[in-house]
Amino acid sequence: MMRTGAPRSRPGPPDRFGNAAAGGSVESRFMAEQLAQAWEHRAAEWIAWTRTAGHDVYFSELNWPSFTPLLPPPGRLTLDLGCGEGRVGRLLASAGHRVMGVDSSPTLARRAHEAGGYERVLHGSGTALPVRTGSADLIVAFMSLHDMDDPAAAISECARVLTPGGLLCAAIVHPLNRPAEHLTPYFAQHRLAEHVETNGLTMTFEAIDRPLDTYTRALEAAGFVIESLREPRPDEAAVRSEPRLAPAAQHPFFLHLRCRR
Ligand SMILES: C[S@@+](CC[C@H](N)C(=O)[O-])C[C@H]1O[C@@H](n2cnc3c(N)ncnc32)[C@H](O)[C@@H]1O
Repeated sequence: MMRTGAPRSRPGPPDRFGNAAAGGSVESRFMAEQLAQAWEHRAAEWIAWTRTAGHDVYFSELNWPSFTPLLPPPGRLTLDLGCGEGRVGRLLASAGHRVMGVDSSPTLARRAHEAGGYERVLHGSGTALPVRTGSADLIVAFMSLHDMDDPAAAISECARVLTPGGLLCAAIVHPLNRPAEHLTPYFAQHRLAEHVETNGLTMTFEAIDRPLDTYTRALEAAGFVIESLREPRPDEAAVRSEPRLAPAAQHPFFLHLRCRR
């Protein structure tokens, strides 16, 4: 399995992002750090990974297109939580959303701001959002909650920042999409630094594998109602046109949630 679709360094099943077979997770010299700091260290790699044309097909051909039907039409303010270098915010802005980005990595927040699309990009943590109470009607947390040290605190902050009736739409790595050594014990938290390499690009995904109910309990505690929970998968036509997606037709890679405050 794999998180985005790049081969691992040793032969094995497809990685959790959907890349072809190769290797397993590796120890990272950032493993002892908080995830927020680890992602700042990965910023340059992540920018290359996301901005190299045609590279992240799991994002462009599966994860993002299957996520967008969960989104409401543009409203007053959309918050892009864990915005990274800003690809999601740019797509939301092009669909008419007024977008504010937040990311704990100063480098990624700056690069998102420079690339445009956002009304504002703030360097800050999802666990203490630098945003007024009740100011957003949509929060998009695309592939970011599992990369946070305290997703429950971030989900609680989302409830504070949303208007009543507002939506939190989230994509995470599917809780079963994890290295074999993290499947048991399933209910434990497993720190992960997964090194992947494809087409000359490398990326180490820093995350924590957690059971699904870490997220659903946090949503429940924050007062959210889950309206939709989906496991996106490519259909036959999608696999024919992009064969790299084939593993995701056999095994769940991502999980999508739409939650109403
Ligand atoms: C896999 S990237 C996703 C970026 C973007 N949403 C995308 O899909 O391109 C995860 C992001 O979460 C950010 N992140 C990690 N912990 C965070 C926190 N506590 N608060 C805000 N952002 C955080 C990382 O810096 C990183 O940019």
